[in-house]
Amino acid sequence: MTRSFSKRGLLITFEGSEGCGKSTQIQILARRLRRAGHTVHVTREPGGTPVGERIRHLLKFSKSNGGMVHEAELMLFSASRAQLVREIILPALKRGEIILSDRFADSTTVYQGVARKLDPAFVARLNDFIIAGRRPDLTLVLDLDAATGLARARKKTRTRDRMEAQKRSFYEAVRRGFVALARREPKRVRVIDGTETVAEVSARILAHVGSILKRC
Ligand code: TMP
Repeated sequence: MTRSFSKRGLLITFEGSEGCGKSTQIQILARRLRRAGHTVHVTREPGGTPVGERIRHLLKFSKSNGGMVHEAELMLFSASRAQLVREIILPALKRGEIILSDRFADSTTVYQGVARKLDPAFVARLNDFIIAGRRPDLTLVLDLDAATGLARARKKTRTRDRMEAQKRSFYEAVRRGFVALARREPKRVRVIDGTETVAEVSARILAHVGSILKRC
């Protein structure tokens, strides 16, 4: 039996700095939800559509020094999201499905608005325009100190992409940015300790998702 929610669907996003373990946790959650009969769509940002995947490549592999200005970076992340929201997310939500997204607009708030120090008010307005007013129902931030996260990320892939080649202080600002966001929006944004084991983290995620499913 396929379960679907109210016509609103359910949008769950995963956030955190590099190496926080989002991808693993998304796979685990998707498997569990599907086993329970839900229709689940897993996606990622930047990317998730043919246009978005091309933008992802530009963002990840342009030259890190002087290759891309912060303002261009902001617009490219936003362009990828605009495509994903309209091509995939809104139609799936309309069908009452569950979307699990590896990053969403909160990454722009934090990476471009906080760590890159672009005007936060402008970033907030741009985000609202891009997501067409559809905020996530639940956002799970996997919190990890920058050193541990970077070490994990570098273990996974030897080569660093443009976003993985910043100074340590950049990722520390990212971490603080996500924690501050959770303080501002405690109902939607939940911080989970990313240093715990995969099983412990997934149990915490399941508890948060379970309580939101009950409310739907
Ligand atoms: P990831 O897919 O490995 O998480 O890589 C995406 C990178 O892009 C990561 O460093 C976070 C960054 N990013 C932004 O800076 N702004 C954004 O809006 C998004 C979605 C990602």
